[in-house]
Amino acid sequence: MRAGNDLSQFWMPFTANRQYKSSPRLLVAAQGNYYTSHDGRQVLDGTAGLWCCNAGHGDPRIVSAIQRQAAVLDYAPSFQMAHPAAFELASRLTRMAPEAVDKIFFCGSGSEAVDGALKIALAYQRAIGQGGRTRLIGRERGYHGVGFGGISVGGIVGNRKQFAALLPGVDHLHHTHDLARNAFTRGLPEHGWELADDLERLVALHDASTIAAVIVEPVAGSTGVLVPPKGYLHRLREICDRHGILLIFDEVITAFGRIGAAFAAERFDVTPDMITTAKAITSGTVPMGAIFARQGLFEAIAQGQPENAIELAHGHTYSAHPLACAAALATLDVYQEDGLFERARGLEKHWEDALHGLSDKPHVVDVRNFGLIGGIELASRPGEPGARAYEMFTRCYEAGVLIRVTGDIIALSPPLTIQADEIDKLINTIAHELAKLA
Ligand SMILES: Cc1ncc(COP(=O)(O)O)c(C=O)c1O
Repeated sequence: MRAGNDLSQFWMPFTANRQYKSSPRLLVAAQGNYYTSHDGRQVLDGTAGLWCCNAGHGDPRIVSAIQRQAAVLDYAPSFQMAHPAAFELASRLTRMAPEAVDKIFFCGSGSEAVDGALKIALAYQRAIGQGGRTRLIGRERGYHGVGFGGISVGGIVGNRKQFAALLPGVDHLHHTHDLARNAFTRGLPEHGWELADDLERLVALHDASTIAAVIVEPVAGSTGVLVPPKGYLHRLREICDRHGILLIFDEVITAFGRIGAAFAAERFDVTPDMITTAKAITSGTVPMGAIFARQGLFEAIAQGQPENAIELAHGHTYSAHPLACAAALATLDVYQEDGLFERARGLEKHWEDALHGLSDKPHVVDVRNFGLIGGIELASRPGEPGARAYEMFTRCYEAGVLIRVTGDIIALSPPLTIQADEIDKLINTIAHELAKLA
């Protein structure tokens, strides 16, 4: 490490800062499916960074697109101005999206995409004369980023309890995690589609005329890989339609190939009213988020406003940042040229078999998978929730593989470029370390 590089000033996000700084782990380079650690080791990336580097690391096509863009146009505002790549990217994204989508709103992160989508939902309901629909519905164990909207509809207590009052008028669906009925399921769980009817309970409690939108992750990632029960998302769509409630899919993790299709909406054949994305839109190279909105949302908000009116009072300095647009366009090229979504789909069986090979290993109480996502749930040490998985994380890192843990769940999401023998290496390392773990 460079002299004078004091670790104390960087207040690290979602990190036990004091614990980390007593024994730091730094990544100094990345290429392909590997990171290089500060002590010079190659570390297999089992998490695509933070669910984002779907095209692997350091792809020269993406790197040079960003370099070229930085040299030509480093920044351009998107308020009453724009630059060509923003329009090109929006057109390209709508062509990839479910047919109903015809507008893309750019932002800088998943959290911004979520809060923007919630605001669009409220503005839309108001514009169509449903101003009483101010309630937002999330789901227990949902993760929707860290904005006030996102933590309000989110359902992870640790992300909420420090921050006192959140958005008013929010309620939550029951989560779909059901180990008693679904443990060790391969792919979509058989049991639990009826949990979507929990939305009917909330409609009965609050009345549909007060509910603007429901937001769910089609496959929940950050809370520990919760795969939707068969039929659940269809059912949710039906109930939303019946009651005039907008459905938002938070696809910050699932979009761009993670589950073997451009979007979970496509894979599950359920079209929401909005899709929030970020992360793999640029394969993690430059921060960017995007809200996909279905036909009619913009028009409803614009109607009745004069042509010189700003239809939606919302936006970010870095909306459609030129470097992000260049990175996204090059990333979409790479996904297409290398057939990475199809590749991910083709690896699913190997991935599933390898993961489920961990089912009989010590401490494992569930293994679940969908697309190139895997969850391995461990029994907690009595009185020490999270400690066992955290130890796995540090052990695996020392053993040369990067995994992610949340509570006592290991969540895996490798780059879509991972090779079959690298999947085996990832899983074998986990098996080896589990065998040694108390
Ligand atoms: C489903 C979901 N929504 C929103 C977010 C927040 O994204 P960001 O960290 O880019 O703000 C995440 C991040 O992991 C996510 O998984």
